Amino acid sequence: MTPRLGEELHKWAVGAGSRLGPVRVEPRQQDIGTVASLGDGVARIHGLPSARQDELLVLGEDAAAMAATLEPGGVGAILLGPWGNVSAGTEARGTGDVVRVPVGEALLGRVVDPLGQPLDGGRPLLAGERWPVERAAPAIVDRAVITRPLPTGITVVDAMIPVGLGQRELIIGDRKTGKTAIALDAIINQRGRDIVCVYVAIGQKASSINRVVDAVRRHGRPERCIVVAAAPDQAPGLSWLAPYAACTMAEYFSERGGDALVVYDDLTKHAAVHRQLSLLLRRPPGREAYPGDVFYLHSRLLERAAQWSPERGGGSLTALPLAETQAGNLTAFIPTNLVSITDGQIYLEPKLFYEGQRPAVNVGLSVSRVGGKTQAPALKGFAESLRLEYAQFLELEIFTRFGGMVDERTRRIVEHGRRTRAMLVQPPLQPRSAAEQVAGLLALATGRLDPLPLETVERFKTGLGQRLRMEAPVLMDHLDAGGALGEDERRALEAAIDADLSDLMAR
Ligand SMILES: Nc1ncnc2c1ncn2[C@@H]1O[C@H](COP(=O)(O)OP(=O)(O)OP(=O)(O)O)[C@@H](O)[C@H]1O
Ligand SMILES: [Mg+2]
Repeated sequence: MTPRLGEELHKWAVGAGSRLGPVRVEPRQQDIGTVASLGDGVARIHGLPSARQDELLVLGEDAAAMAATLEPGGVGAILLGPWGNVSAGTEARGTGDVVRVPVGEALLGRVVDPLGQPLDGGRPLLAGERWPVERAAPAIVDRAVITRPLPTGITVVDAMIPVGLGQRELIIGDRKTGKTAIALDAIINQRGRDIVCVYVAIGQKASSINRVVDAVRRHGRPERCIVVAAAPDQAPGLSWLAPYAACTMAEYFSERGGDALVVYDDLTKHAAVHRQLSLLLRRPPGREAYPGDVFYLHSRLLERAAQWSPERGGGSLTALPLAETQAGNLTAFIPTNLVSITDGQIYLEPKLFYEGQRPAVNVGLSVSRVGGKTQAPALKGFAESLRLEYAQFLELEIFTRFGGMVDERTRRIVEHGRRTRAMLVQPPLQPRSAAEQVAGLLALATGRLDPLPLETVERFKTGLGQRLRMEAPVLMDHLDAGGALGEDERRALEAAIDADLSDLMAR
């Protein structure tokens, strides 16, 4: 499936000089080392005294590697591709340059590996610019306050844990709790906006990657998306490089004043790859055998997310890192690191998932530290009370489960909560527009759904947006554009909801 890895890279690195102008024939000094030993995805090289950290090395004819540890006795290198042709004694040369990936418009709509080589059978990306995979994060003075929203189309997120452009929001939960589904919905919901979405798969099964690519092609706007995939059967160095490479690809757009969203799926696997490579490179292990720099590993990556200041073009790079927990343990090493690096987390709980509450967001343990300021005013109006009432309901529901007698007020809160929960259940790949979310929350908040049976609430919420759009198109457009819900708009929307509800009841 993969073209001979490193071949294009090697041609580019070694042939760059001759492509740039007439061939100059002059003596030149180059260190040539030899591979002393080779392990799973790493190599030790002797005789490259002037190698630099992160330098791209070429082993033998076409194998690429990256200098990772520099010691007096030699260089520890991470291999960036298959190492079938490399053996002990193979020649190793430095290229004098760091690892770079192609960037630019040509990447849009493509599926590439972390070195920018196509995995979709399309033409190679050799022409355009190449940027280093490791780049410095924007300086404080170049940043601006996050003010614009990034709607995910998922009501529970947009209403209670809103994400802003330029924010870093962690999506965390046990395996198979719908982490990828949330990130994918966020990508698909950008289909009507000019946001470049980059999905990077780190150590995911080929079938999972395919599912994402297929969903984006069918429901999203693939011509504004890039998929960077590092399969688990490829060199671990590629998985290690993947998030940085994807971030560089996204930065090309955000530094030109555009908006970009990067989904890192997932950073727990990335940390595991880092641990594997570090142990093979004989770096000292620390807690849980991770090396000492595992915090820096992710902080330097996620710090590259930013809202640029107007002087620097005003673009943004939003990061949605994913992390997997074991048995819901949020306090494990990697999850706590990531929680402390990001601006909030969406915590998915297996218990909720199995109860059918999907997306299985635990609202109490989820938070968005900056997104609230970016929330559209119409949605914000409901957010506060929704959160409080829902939390109160979850607490009261536990007592009412035992079937004891409850007073009228408690019963009302519980019935209302059940309807809220029904409205928050949302299947994947069906993002809701802002207007649809506002309409649903308005119906809830005004108690219109409380007397209805739960099945009717189900029927009410499906296709609500489409029905109301026929009834009140101007109003819906106004709300989709982030417009406020003033007195007049509210009355008009309530009338449309009432008409829709009586329609539903009559059927
Ligand atoms: N909101 C939802 N409603 C119904 N089903 C859902 C929802 N979200 C996810 N699922 C289903 O749950 C399953 C797991 O989802 P997903 O692959 O997103 O989880 P994950 O946490 O990313 O899993 P993994 O640990 O394998 O990465 C999928 O089959 C998906 O279709
Ligand atoms: Mg997943």
